[in-house]
Amino acid sequence: MDKKARLEVEGKSYDLPIIAGTEGERGIDIGNLRGETGLVTLDPAYKNTGSCTSSITFIDGEQGVLQHRGYPIEQLAEKATFLEVAYLLINGELPNRGQIEEWSTEIRYHTMLHEDVKRLFGAFPKDAHPMAVSSAVIAALSTFYPEDLDPLDERQARASADRLIAKFPTIVACAYKHSVGQPFLYPDNKLSYVENFLRMAFGTPCEEFEVDPVIAQAIDQLLILHADHEQNCSTSTVRLVGSSHVNLFGAISAAINALWGSRHGGANQAVIEMLETIDAEGLTAQQFVDRAKDRDDTSRLMGFGHRVYRNYDPRARVIKQAAGNVLDKLGVTSNLLEIAVELERIALQDDYFVSRRLFPNVDFYSGVIYRALGIPVNSFTVMFAMGRLPGWIAHWLELHQQGQAIGRPRQIYIGPTKRDVAPIDQR
Ligand code: CMC
Repeated sequence: MDKKARLEVEGKSYDLPIIAGTEGERGIDIGNLRGETGLVTLDPAYKNTGSCTSSITFIDGEQGVLQHRGYPIEQLAEKATFLEVAYLLINGELPNRGQIEEWSTEIRYHTMLHEDVKRLFGAFPKDAHPMAVSSAVIAALSTFYPEDLDPLDERQARASADRLIAKFPTIVACAYKHSVGQPFLYPDNKLSYVENFLRMAFGTPCEEFEVDPVIAQAIDQLLILHADHEQNCSTSTVRLVGSSHVNLFGAISAAINALWGSRHGGANQAVIEMLETIDAEGLTAQQFVDRAKDRDDTSRLMGFGHRVYRNYDPRARVIKQAAGNVLDKLGVTSNLLEIAVELERIALQDDYFVSRRLFPNVDFYSGVIYRALGIPVNSFTVMFAMGRLPGWIAHWLELHQQGQAIGRPRQIYIGPTKRDVAPIDQR
């Protein structure tokens, strides 16, 4: 028998269907509520609202579980490459050798930027934030591919998706090269996805660039760990903006801006800045934790807390271990890693964090690795975006496969009631 929830409003009862997911999650379907009762639901910040059904990613925030298409993130991080995970998110299954070779060839084919796109970078100040630059350049890419912009045409949608995955590392590298006044490098399609990015970002035309396999592998794993996270702020942005039937470039450009904020992906930059401040001011971890708890102080413990996880973020667990391994392999010591470990130790024993169930999230340790790998601090968030891109694309494709109507929340109006406009000299 189908399960129902019963709602009673002013003496009348209404039965609302309960929808169950494959991992046991359940939600009350209120699609007909307003039509039947005249009421809407009110849930600012969507703390308790499911905006869609989705078969891409499952999170159990209580247990600290993250699975893409059923596969645990820990296994994907250990056994797959970033492009394999991207293929999984977008197509639903892990690729076999033939499938990944074919898709990688397709991606390589699109790595170059149109020469006119490259001229855009020169218009930005040298210290422009790479998130602003990449969002603007991606919005501009739509003007170069007018024949492939229909989101409802599967071939066109896939062509835009491949172009974006292929060109994003080139865009990030060009943004960096512009900021340091060095020439742009063309992609070298003999290299892997990550190797190509590292060469374009940190190589020069004067010398052969040797890719350090430790660095390439660490970045590939970080990209995997960021690849999707169901209906977070930027992915919900993709779905909402995409529901207007804008092209993929427009939806991804919007998502990059959503990710930029310090409560979302911008937290990885904010964490390293926090650790640097603690280091520079000679604060103890306890002193900073006390500040983060103080309601009169605006500081938060950046990289801590999550809307969904009420347990250790499984991505943070992998990244914390990787941070130690990468620093060992590179022979680097990091006092920032030591400060981060100490902050975590103190916070996890503190009643404020324990009672609110605040744990380290994906951003807490990622910056320590990026910094050790030589990624500039203001590029941390754009590295997050590079990883999240396949997730955004998968959700955008799923949205259109589901034929979802335009996203359009309701509100409860609390402003002035109807009044008349007085002529200007009588106001
Ligand atoms: N430091 C100190 N207090 C915190 C923190 C923190 N990092 N996070 C939450 N709290 C407190 C908050 O003040 C509130 O306390 P009270 O109930 O007394 O008012 C309580 O914990 C609940 O917090 P909330 O802000 O209502 O929770 P939320 O679900 O709306 O916000 C969050 C989640 C991630 C925005 C928030 O935890 C935060 O701002 N963390 C720091 C920024 C950060 O690390 N963001 C990255 C998130 S994970 C990756 C990503 O999405 O990009």
